Amino acid sequence: MASRVRVGIAGTGSYVPERVVPNAEFESFLDTSDEWIVQRTGIRERRWVAEGENTSDLCVHAGKRALEAAGISAADLDLVIVGTLTPDYPLPSTACLVQDRIGATKAGAFDVQAACTGFLTAMNTAEAFIAAGRARRALVIGAEALSRFVDMSERGSCILFGDAAGAAVLMPHEDCGQGEVLRTTLGADGSGFEFIHISGGGSVHPATHDTVEAKQHYIRLKGRDVFRFAVKHMSQLIEEMLEGYDPDELGLIVPHQVNRRIIDAALDRVGMTDEKVMVNIQHYGNTSAATVPVALDEAVVQGRIEKGKLVVLVAFGAGLTWGASLIRW
Ligand code: UT7
Repeated sequence: MASRVRVGIAGTGSYVPERVVPNAEFESFLDTSDEWIVQRTGIRERRWVAEGENTSDLCVHAGKRALEAAGISAADLDLVIVGTLTPDYPLPSTACLVQDRIGATKAGAFDVQAACTGFLTAMNTAEAFIAAGRARRALVIGAEALSRFVDMSERGSCILFGDAAGAAVLMPHEDCGQGEVLRTTLGADGSGFEFIHISGGGSVHPATHDTVEAKQHYIRLKGRDVFRFAVKHMSQLIEEMLEGYDPDELGLIVPHQVNRRIIDAALDRVGMTDEKVMVNIQHYGNTSAATVPVALDEAVVQGRIEKGKLVVLVAFGAGLTWGASLIRW
């Protein structure tokens, strides 16, 4: 059997829509306040797509930036994988729209649906293809237009979500010399499928006037249940990724930006402080599959990741799903 190809992250990119939605905007139509939202979530503002702007548009911007950072052209790609729970259409995949628009003429393209774990699932899939010698250049993207799927009358959820896209180009480590993926893990527990759920529009409740009337096309969540699950899994995954490594080797943890309190509680459990953790939830809210790649790209741009140090990417979400990767930057 051929030996495993070591895989690296050759470049990252991200994009957020222009429209900034501060917490105060919700005060005009909901029984909520900037103070409540900041205290309970850490979110101060989020970005929402403009009319006519869709998930694939965000993907194209972020994807092109990642290709530029990696120094390759779209025509060099073998794979385009998009993690999203808010595709442009139920059919076909958003990845195909992106593949066409960026000119990835040689690439296979498909979406993965693992909610907030979408980017890490896409990245793990691409890593496995490259490691097995079945592909050499892959563009992986986590992107969402969640503002199209929230019920603006439900204060417990609509204040949480934002729109964004983040991307990374993966290739053999020998070709890019950076960002080696050392470890990856994915997990799921479908018994918790109703914790975060869109019940209408699938084969159980195909879209009808009634499902729309009942607002079944919107995201519903059991916030407190997710909170408990999230703290437990985030801390366990960080420990699992770093097991056997000297803590001094850690450069940065890039967690799913789900809720500032969840991130803080998880760090507390593993005995870590803020300084080695990337947090940008205050600016973008929870952008599901996009949080990890956007935060990773911002960390790269801000020079927060020292070459040679370890980076932990960690996410969890609807499914329930979870995933993590350990990278040597
Ligand atoms: O990425 C995966 C998807 N993300 C999630 O599933 C989110 C995970 N969960 C969370 O982030 C938190 O559970 C929330 C931010 C959703 C809620 O925070 P919490 O501290 O767990 O609040 P809670 O649900 O226990 O609600 C406390 C109170 C309730 O009022 P009563 O019943 O105590 O009178 C809520 O109705 O806060 C009320 N509340 C609000 N008040 C003002 C809920 N949302 C709001 C709001 N403004 N926006």
